[in-house]
Amino acid sequence: MEHTDHVKQLISIANAMVADHKGLVAIDESVSTLNKRFELAGIPQTEEYRRAYREVLITTPGIGNYINGAILFDETVHQQTLAGVSFLDELKKAGVIPGIKLDEGTEDLAGFPKEKITKGLDDLAERLTAYAKSGLKFAKWRGVILIDGELPSTACILSNTHALARYAAACQRAGIVPIVEPEVIMDGKHSIERCAEVTEKVLSSLFEQLYLLKVELGGLILKPNMILPGKDSAQKADPELVAKLTVNCLRNAVPATVAGIAFLSGGQDPVTACRNLNAINLDYKAELPWPVTYSFSRALHQPALEIWKGKTENVKAAQDSFLEMASACKAARSGEYKS
Ligand code: G3H
Repeated sequence: MEHTDHVKQLISIANAMVADHKGLVAIDESVSTLNKRFELAGIPQTEEYRRAYREVLITTPGIGNYINGAILFDETVHQQTLAGVSFLDELKKAGVIPGIKLDEGTEDLAGFPKEKITKGLDDLAERLTAYAKSGLKFAKWRGVILIDGELPSTACILSNTHALARYAAACQRAGIVPIVEPEVIMDGKHSIERCAEVTEKVLSSLFEQLYLLKVELGGLILKPNMILPGKDSAQKADPELVAKLTVNCLRNAVPATVAGIAFLSGGQDPVTACRNLNAINLDYKAELPWPVTYSFSRALHQPALEIWKGKTENVKAAQDSFLEMASACKAARSGEYKS
């Protein structure tokens, strides 16, 4: 793509999202996902509690030292702090770039039992225009790929990577940087080698689709899974093996021109996610053509949620925990994490 001012602007936002050895935080859980987490933590599942939780995270003093960007859910974009400041203004004050989850969850992929396709393409252009007007600078779209026996099917991989590329092209047209998240989920008994094989196939398909749809890779962030054994497999993988297979897979499938890679945590506990990210950045520093950082949800703020429990008196302790995790992630992004 020719580097017009429009493209230069996309590249500059994408670079800022992964700059200074910092990363991203995902606070874009849908209403039903956040309600499920609240239920497990004994927190009432109401709009006000969801707003209050987002206020705890967004107003944590000093988050801008560790976080470049926050991915929000639509509900949060329109909310404000108890003091009446909009969350978007709070983020601006903290030096954190606001982004938005644009996918609308998944539905069954017709004809392919157990497999999913992501919804949300239909009215994407209108939603993008509105979000760009509100000051949102980047977006996220998640495709879900399940490993189970012979699955994923080629149809599932292609349908999801094509949708991701259409979303990415629409974002760039609206001046918004796309985060593309093709998540090979951890559920299942598969081996780490099978995860590597499937992830490489998915990423190769994704970059072919992005190329077809003329997406500018310098104005795009990839949010992949790390290469891990299935959650129900007996296999254990130390950070050195995770790092080796993850870097090998990314180097085989991801063009060097992509602006940055920001991993999802995918259900790993915070310490494991940080140890794995650390090994990637420590052992392979010289071989990574992209900044490789974090875009975690659970691994960054699940402990804070469990400390907060919906109670005002726990806000400070919850914010301390969030900041501690964010600082650990930043250390891991530099290969300096000590667990
Ligand atoms: O789409 C998923 C989130 O953005 C990342 O969440 O770090 O808990 O996997 P996670």
